[in-house]
Amino acid sequence: MSAPPESFHHIHIEPQGWEFSSTAGQSLLLAALQAGYRLPHSCRNGTCRACMTRLMEGRVEYQVEWPGLLREEKEEGWILPCVACARSDLRLDAPLAVALRSNCSGGTLAPSSSPAPVDKSVHSLQIDAPSD
Ligand code: FES
Repeated sequence: MSAPPESFHHIHIEPQGWEFSSTAGQSLLLAALQAGYRLPHSCRNGTCRACMTRLMEGRVEYQVEWPGLLREEKEEGWILPCVACARSDLRLDAPLAVALRSNCSGGTLAPSSSPAPVDKSVHSLQIDAPSD
């Protein structure tokens, strides 16, 4: 018997109109980053609230028992993508989302033909101590 196909959901980012897929149990933040889209974030564990995003359509579940949202905020549609997983296709209002690669556009992530170049230059910073 073969394994069942892995379930996934389509995630739409508005107002940019970008979309990507999220697999079951994967945080929305991680799925977005893997697809080449950066959502605002910091702690990645549901406490700092830097990633607060409005859920316009769909259902999520949380990887942690007490995500850092008030009941009223949840009722207003706010979610924490760093610890939220899709339970359906979603539409997120994330105007501060950024495409990490220039080939992320129109909802399609084109495969990279070669690895990104590595900047091997060395930078230094000299700080002069104040004189007395
Ligand atoms: S990144 Fe801190 S709560 Fe989501």
